[in-house]
Amino acid sequence: MKNSIYDCVMLPLRKIHNRAGNITIIEGQRNIPFDVRRIYYLYDIPGGEARGGHAHRDLCQLIIAASGSFNVLLDDGENKKIATLNRPDYGVMVVPGIWRELFEFSSGAICLVLASQKYDERDYIRNYDQFVSFSREHGSITG
Ligand code: TYD
Repeated sequence: MKNSIYDCVMLPLRKIHNRAGNITIIEGQRNIPFDVRRIYYLYDIPGGEARGGHAHRDLCQLIIAASGSFNVLLDDGENKKIATLNRPDYGVMVVPGIWRELFEFSSGAICLVLASQKYDERDYIRNYDQFVSFSREHGSITG
């Protein structure tokens, strides 16, 4: 059975606070259900720009607003939802087979992404019609 947007949960991340500030730690297979093989971050995003606009066949990601805020549209080919990220101690898990678009970045926003695999362009589906076909081939979310 294929993944659905309901598998893309908001994960609260542990925050250790003291008077000198906060620290959040993420350990693969401990705080998130995958090992982290790649980290990247988006920054200096001009106002009104959108990122993403693709799905992954196998990749799992945790997306965090390390600074500022933005929205993540999640689409499984049948249902859509928008996750708003605006705190560094929360992340949204994006499971394989989900179309995502990132938009409404605040000024100075930093989008931190922890990924389960190294970069592989063959894992991307960048065309929405192809994504819908892929999604149908992989079965209905209701089984
Ligand atoms: P892209 O995935 O299109 O960015 P976004 O989905 O955030 O809009 O990537 C932009 C460029 O960066 C593209 O040329 C591929 C390259 N890239 C890498 O080389 N390695 C990576 O890990 C990522 C995420 C992108």
